[in-house]
Amino acid sequence: MNRRILLISASALVPAWSAYADGEHVLVFGASGRLGVAVIQSLLAAGHRATAFVRPSSDRGGLSGMDIEYAVGDVMSADDVKRAMPAGKYGVVINALSRRGNAEGAFYDVSQVHITDAAKAAGVKQIVFIGSLGAGQSRAVYPDDRWKTYGPLLLEKDRAEQNIVASGVGYTIIRNDQIRSKDLPATGTAYLTEDQHARGIITRRDLGKLIVDCVGVERCMNKTFHAIDREQ
Ligand SMILES: NC(=O)c1ccc[n+]([C@@H]2O[C@H](COP(=O)([O-])OP(=O)(O)OC[C@H]3O[C@@H](n4cnc5c(N)ncnc54)[C@H](OP(=O)(O)O)[C@@H]3O)[C@@H](O)[C@H]2O)c1
Repeated sequence: MNRRILLISASALVPAWSAYADGEHVLVFGASGRLGVAVIQSLLAAGHRATAFVRPSSDRGGLSGMDIEYAVGDVMSADDVKRAMPAGKYGVVINALSRRGNAEGAFYDVSQVHITDAAKAAGVKQIVFIGSLGAGQSRAVYPDDRWKTYGPLLLEKDRAEQNIVASGVGYTIIRNDQIRSKDLPATGTAYLTEDQHARGIITRRDLGKLIVDCVGVERCMNKTFHAIDREQ
């Protein structure tokens, strides 16, 4: 059977809560990053409101001209993250962080604990975590030669996933393997699968759209997906 038949297609998704009709207010971590910018573009195109969590030093160039709010802080500071998430302000939080510039220490573990704790306290309904192939059951299909380099990072991302799942906050984990350049156009043929052994390549634009297709959507709740366009 063609695996795509088992998948979520954007048109089949059902709103999870009534607020969706007016769009969610979504807080995006990693908003100044390559994927983060694509996510914010897709959020606005889908009628959501977006707040970009950025560092004081972040280059906001990719977000310029967009009708968004900013929350400024460092995700490694629990207080900064808490301050960015007042009770009731956001329905959904997206974590598109990458450890760029954070070479030392357990970046994903620490940052996700801060985000999860603040989201729980603030009554956030859904955390969307951008994960990586190699976490959870997908370790079985992760190439051993790459594991030697990326294993420690992927174990961090695995622990971050587990932190979210254990928190009781609604979640959607979207793992990917290789992401193609932010400058490539969307193909429109990417998809999400619950098959944790599926691997493939995807563009940032397609990934941004698939992430946003899950925002506030019941069929994505408490699920782990792999995002794929061309299978490897
Ligand atoms: N690149 C790939 O091929 C690939 C493959 C698999 C999975 N992924 C995953 O895709 C996601 C996004 O990747 P990307 O390539 O878009 O990353 P990116 O361009 O390097 O962006 C990283 C983002 O994280 C932010 N950030 C880092 N440390 C921070 C801190 N201490 N406080 C606040 N913000 C901080 C950066 O802010 P600044 O602008 O201030 O630095 C930036 O916005 C990650 O989860 C990554 O693991 C990527």
